[in-house]
Amino acid sequence: MSVALLTAEQVQAKLSAKKYPAQQTYLAMYSTWLEGITTEPGLMTIPIDDHLVHRGDGVFEAIKVVNGRVFLIDEHLARLESSAAQIGLSLPMSVDKIKSVIAETMQAAKVQEALLRLYISRGPGGFTTNPYDSISSQMYLVVTSLKTLPPEKYQQGVSIGKSKIPPKDPSMARIKSCNYLPNVLMKKESVDRGIDFTINLDGNGNFLEGSTENMVILNSQNVLVRPFLNQMLKGTTMMRTFELAEKLVAQGKIAAIKESNITDDDIKSAKEVMMIGTTLDVLPVTSFEGQKIGSGVQGSVAKELNELLRENMKQAPLL
Ligand SMILES: Cc1ncc(COP(=O)(O)O)c(C=O)c1O
Repeated sequence: MSVALLTAEQVQAKLSAKKYPAQQTYLAMYSTWLEGITTEPGLMTIPIDDHLVHRGDGVFEAIKVVNGRVFLIDEHLARLESSAAQIGLSLPMSVDKIKSVIAETMQAAKVQEALLRLYISRGPGGFTTNPYDSISSQMYLVVTSLKTLPPEKYQQGVSIGKSKIPPKDPSMARIKSCNYLPNVLMKKESVDRGIDFTINLDGNGNFLEGSTENMVILNSQNVLVRPFLNQMLKGTTMMRTFELAEKLVAQGKIAAIKESNITDDDIKSAKEVMMIGTTLDVLPVTSFEGQKIGSGVQGSVAKELNELLRENMKQAPLL
């Protein structure tokens, strides 16, 4: 058997001809490397010698667009800048320019609802671990369709369990880098176990976060608690939800909000447990390691917080 030596035209034709189901959700891609936008999924590629590919050397954000409004855009871009700064990577363009690229790529995608996947890479150049071998940082933005969970998931709640995957070191856990192998293994673990999410724990048995989402509880004293931010990603959705929760404190519906350690016993005795993230919003948890949580269905606080969050999205900036 001989392997074909392809011409540039054949390469392009082959890439364009590649078809598989997930591509139906890939609507448009902007690339600094291509200096433009393509709407053809087969051509949404990045150079193999970009250090993002072979070393995971890059940072990213997943951002939700609802009804043409980009939710928490400033918070996501601030976290992107902070992640990049923590690994000594400079953004290839200003934050204002990134916003206008987002608007133009959304126009090409021709949708009002989307999940934006924004990557800043170290860039092409050699295949070493040396970041100084890359010629310049690149930006890749992919607009994909927004896939939301069915309403039943919010009414019935989801199942969680303890992860066996060690958490990242605190200094790495706070960076949204493209080095997501532990997160991938957590997702695999939950799929293999037939549960919705697993949550990792620090060395002292305190719960941290899910594969790509945060976990918070309404404890037995009616206090809304999130874990300390030291060894996990500071979720933009969790932070906004906690701001909105002040209203429930003022109304006397919850006693207070606080940051604290969350142990096994805290989860088992919690009135409510919630998973929070960009694609989920506020998703109630009704089972922990097979044990029923709270009433076994969506709790009133999870419901109200989810409604407040969705209402808040209506005030996000228009593209
Ligand atoms: C590890 C991790 N934790 C938490 C989150 C939730 O963050 P956000 O609410 O900004 O989506 C994410 C997703 O970005 C994540 O990857």
